Amino acid sequence: MATLAREVTQPVDPFDVSRPDIYRDDTWHEPFRRLRAEAPVHKVADSDFGPYWSVSTYKPIVEVESLPDLYSSEANGFTISPIASDEVRMPMFIGRDRPIHTAQRRTVAPAFTPSEMVRLTKNIRDRSAEVLDTLPWNTGFDWVERVSIELTTQMLAILFDFPWEDRAKLTMWSDWMGDIELAKSEELRQQRLEKIYECGAYFQKLWAAKAGAAPTPDLISMMIHSDAMSHMEPNEFMGNLILLIVGGNDTTRNTMSGLVYALDQFPAERAKLEADSALIPNAVSEIIRWQTPLAHMARTAQQDTELMGQQIAAGDKVVMWYISANRDESVFGPNADDYQVDRPNARRHLAFGHGIHRCVGARLAELQVAILLEEMAKRRMRVNVTGAPDRVAACFVHGYRHLPVEISRY
Ligand code: HEM
Repeated sequence: MATLAREVTQPVDPFDVSRPDIYRDDTWHEPFRRLRAEAPVHKVADSDFGPYWSVSTYKPIVEVESLPDLYSSEANGFTISPIASDEVRMPMFIGRDRPIHTAQRRTVAPAFTPSEMVRLTKNIRDRSAEVLDTLPWNTGFDWVERVSIELTTQMLAILFDFPWEDRAKLTMWSDWMGDIELAKSEELRQQRLEKIYECGAYFQKLWAAKAGAAPTPDLISMMIHSDAMSHMEPNEFMGNLILLIVGGNDTTRNTMSGLVYALDQFPAERAKLEADSALIPNAVSEIIRWQTPLAHMARTAQQDTELMGQQIAAGDKVVMWYISANRDESVFGPNADDYQVDRPNARRHLAFGHGIHRCVGARLAELQVAILLEEMAKRRMRVNVTGAPDRVAACFVHGYRHLPVEISRY
């Protein structure tokens, strides 16, 4: 396999922060600390994903995100993984440039307005309460499986008005589609393709049912009845639908897992939160900063340019490491590695990106995590981590496969 050959013949670049093992082993802090201090814009000559520029501090990431015509999301993929020539083309607006991006984003944005969030709140709260009420007290279980995955799946099913009994399919498809590491193996790529087709066929049926009916306030109906989306090719419609499922899945899940892990690691912060639930909104922003559920997004330079004194050539891949910018000492101070529920500038984090592609689902994710914390507080529920977390081995999705816990009352 190409991956193996590279490992055998070339020394590993200590600054190649795309290596999945550093996320699996939670050893990414040190290489990024050095990158921020010594080379915030650094060229990695080769990696499993090919050559790329690493941007690891706050300021140049904001610069790249603020120049979307110079740094394209469309030219060669929006993650570190390049677009393979034989890949099924399923365009999504996260990977489009202006003006198409603007038109397509505008179609789904109304599903995430503050008034929509108010409308969804009761449903999300009732479902979250139900999940918490089924948890065993003082017995071990996996928080990822019982809470993070379940609540995220329910949130997405509510947003899409997806058949409730089939909701686990949403997560299963999304897990297949959101994993960029799979692109490295031909066999897994084929299996992924099958899942994409299966998902497509299912949504086609849903689409047919909703297309003939009066508009309803869910995302699928909104997309069907919009101008920009209703005239697009089936592949593009599917791509955008998948984007909304995948975009909300791992991210919200890993925020909810990171939340209980961070509270367990920082008991003095947990005590502050348990004593004062007015801190919940800030604690939510802070967990999104601290966890940074998507470690990076990427762009491709459209012209030769300069970034912090480095010469970037047209066609170069530029990777923006949000995970590192969110630990930038010049913005978050010397204790940037700590989870601090009352951190004054927690909301300045870059975990949702910045600029025209800034996460469209940010409010929904914050709402779900805030509701979880509120419902835990009502039950005086403390989540104690009982063993080492099993972490995702990937440089894109930054999260947990399993997290053993036990709950007790405080
Ligand atoms: C875009 C993170 C939750 C849907 C993004 C981007 C990031 C991100 C980093 C790209 C920003 C950029 O390139 O500048 C997160 C995090 C979440 C989260 C950390 C949870 C804590 C959600 C949810 C949904 C969603 C719940 C929807 C259900 C999207 C979509 C885009 C996006 C559709 C594309 C926006 C565009 O290109 O204009 N998100 N996301 N995300 N996210 Fe999220």
